[in-house]
Amino acid sequence: MTVPTKVKLVEVGPRDGLQAESTTLPPKTRIHFIDQLSKSGLKAIEVGSFVSPRWIPHLADTDKVYQGITKSPGVDYSILVPNKTGYELAIQNEVKSIAVFTAASETFCQKNINASIEESLQNFGEFIPQARAKGIRVRGYVSCAIACPYEGPIAPERVHKVALKLLNVGCDEISLGDTIGVGTPSQVQNLLRHNPIPLPQLAVHFHDTYGQALANIYAALEKGVSIIDSSVSGLGGCPYAPGASGNVATEDVIYLLTGLGIDHGVDLKKLLESADFIDKKLSRKTPSKASQALRLQMRSP
Ligand code: HMG
Ligand code: MG
Repeated sequence: MTVPTKVKLVEVGPRDGLQAESTTLPPKTRIHFIDQLSKSGLKAIEVGSFVSPRWIPHLADTDKVYQGITKSPGVDYSILVPNKTGYELAIQNEVKSIAVFTAASETFCQKNINASIEESLQNFGEFIPQARAKGIRVRGYVSCAIACPYEGPIAPERVHKVALKLLNVGCDEISLGDTIGVGTPSQVQNLLRHNPIPLPQLAVHFHDTYGQALANIYAALEKGVSIIDSSVSGLGGCPYAPGASGNVATEDVIYLLTGLGIDHGVDLKKLLESADFIDKKLSRKTPSKASQALRLQMRSP
């Protein structure tokens, strides 16, 4: 299999990123951040989540953020929802794209959404058909696709089983998440070898705890995957996955894709403006050597 000629990047920084930072940002800042991301040419942006604000206080007011952003035509602005309450909030806010999430690990699923894997799938079954009937796009995440912070390594067959159930319950796209960023390329290839999800519907979602995310993305590209989740400036983590660091930085992925001659459609300079903006708001340092080099290069005359 040769690598794809075109890749869709799914920017998860405003959701996966901001949910795990120590600073909580007000809606106005999040709106400006997303508007900047929209100008970079990204075609899919996860705006926030309709989850319990007691569980994830950082993403409270996602309704205000969703209402406040300027929606560029052709961009998929999605909201993460864990249950029917979240779906109903999505409907009230006229959201056109949602993402549900479960896990391949029973313990993680319970700690993350207070439900078993089977219960979560049943809950999704209560609203995904309605969502689809209304023309709402549905993405499904499988967390712990390589390993679980509580149960250790997870066999690919367990991941495939949950991914297929998500597809059968009506998801348009399935994202396999290395939630704690422990995977290496051979494990990723092993995971993808007998993957039952059609390639045009399959995404990968790598956290970068051990600096393996870019290598893992390359391994996934070699297996024909053409949808990649990432977070500008490597924001992120999961509050219910101890030790999980940020997602792979979008700018680093873009550098890789450009080098491989793969079309990604993103204006790097504009993307880095949003990275600078959010880093300043969060008082954080530039996450990776690649990101630092790119920002220096973009600033030089
Ligand atoms: P629960 O306590 O079992 O919920 O939590 P409940 O149904 O018993 O309700 C308790 C209260 O929450 C009630 O309010 C509900 O109305 C409210 P009260 O009557 O006490 O005032 N509630 C809600 N409020 C807002 N939005 C909702 C909602 N649902 C109930 N949707 C629940 C269950 C799912 C709500 C909770 O566990 C939760 O919010 N979990 C979210 C966890 C989360 O967001 N984790 C991070 C995202 S996943 C991730 O990062 C992984 C990913 O990136 C992929 C990867 O890296 O692998 C996607
Ligand atoms: Mg994640």
